[in-house]
Amino acid sequence: MKTKLDGHYTTNWEEVIADRMKEAKPSAIREILKVAQDPTVISFAGGLPAPELFPIREFREACEYVLTNNGQQALQYGPTEGYRPLKEWIAETVMKYGVPAVPENILLTNGSQQALDLVGKVFLNEGDAIITDEPTYLGAIQAWNPYRPKYITVPLDKQGTRVDKVEEVLKEHKDVKFIYVLPNFHNPAGTTLPLERRQKLVEIAAKYGIFIIEDDPYGELRYEGEDLPPLISLHKENVIYLSTFSKTLAPGVRLGWIIASEQVIQKLVIAKQGSDLHTSTFIQYIVYDICHRGILKPHVKRIRKVYRERRDVMLKAMEEHFPKEGFTWTHPEGGLFLFVWMPEELDAQKLFERAVKEAGVAFVPGSSFYPNGGGKNTMRLNFSCMPPERIKEGIKRLGKILKDELERVKK
Ligand SMILES: Cc1ncc(COP(=O)(O)O)c(C=O)c1O
Repeated sequence: MKTKLDGHYTTNWEEVIADRMKEAKPSAIREILKVAQDPTVISFAGGLPAPELFPIREFREACEYVLTNNGQQALQYGPTEGYRPLKEWIAETVMKYGVPAVPENILLTNGSQQALDLVGKVFLNEGDAIITDEPTYLGAIQAWNPYRPKYITVPLDKQGTRVDKVEEVLKEHKDVKFIYVLPNFHNPAGTTLPLERRQKLVEIAAKYGIFIIEDDPYGELRYEGEDLPPLISLHKENVIYLSTFSKTLAPGVRLGWIIASEQVIQKLVIAKQGSDLHTSTFIQYIVYDICHRGILKPHVKRIRKVYRERRDVMLKAMEEHFPKEGFTWTHPEGGLFLFVWMPEELDAQKLFERAVKEAGVAFVPGSSFYPNGGGKNTMRLNFSCMPPERIKEGIKRLGKILKDELERVKK
């Protein structure tokens, strides 16, 4: 266990690491983002909001206001559940989607990512099964892997989760703990679950006594079509709903929230107490001030307009420059991503290496989003972070690499 060195024992870290962390790997996306950080690279890799749109002046004013008027409270420890006025604001806001929440149903978290971790901590025993889409959000897999669940995947099509397959899985597997879904503007797939599938999904979950984790960071970023009811509005008791200020305001504030029944919230609160006591009081005061002064709504309207244009530019450029045969991609109604399925012979990892090296373009190879492997011939493209001219140029260069690689593998 320990190595003796000069009469002293030195810890062998490899050996003392807990079993649950032995196989843990860094996120493939974080590694890719390191490459994409080079400013000369046209990056469609990250899931980053456009930094030029951050409401910096409003943050400055909110800081000034909070420190002048509530400095002592804002810099003090706070309740684990979160700052009550902000929870009241969230409860009021989600009412427009038919979510009947009161502050006792809400827990503020360090982003939705912490919410995913807390869900794992509270609900997962080793070996429990989770139903996820294939592909699904990589960060959820990362959050849950240390609890050693197994993933049972269902495919998705251009309308999101194949809900018919969920029932097949539930008939076959009796050890499913919950179903994890992203009904709005899926990451990475860019799909939106239609109303009938939403209804069917909550119906199936109730029939088999399984609960649902509804991850909804992008719901406010809709560029076309009508808002659809969140799953939690269709079956309040069976759904744990997650959302965040990361995509509407700024990810650097690390502020998200969970909506669930009081009983669930109470357990999540205990899990969070052991993790970080509470989310930053100061940040909650600042964000509350911004929300309360009515700044968020017009801000979201502004970013929607910019992102819609960028999505359209990317889709148009893809029509123009991507090969047609064997290629298909999603046309997202909102969010930050679209997903591309390519001919089986193409390997997105290889393409990524070529694209960065030869064309200065980055994206995320889709296999990262397949919990049980697969998806080698897929990729995720982000359209929010690059200005239109760079999107056009990047897609043009990427299209060239795709055509060239297609020729090469056919030979
Ligand atoms: C589907 C999904 N869930 C959760 C998160 C985590 O968001 P946050 O910044 O609130 O931790 C992200 C971030 O990209 C996401 O795409």
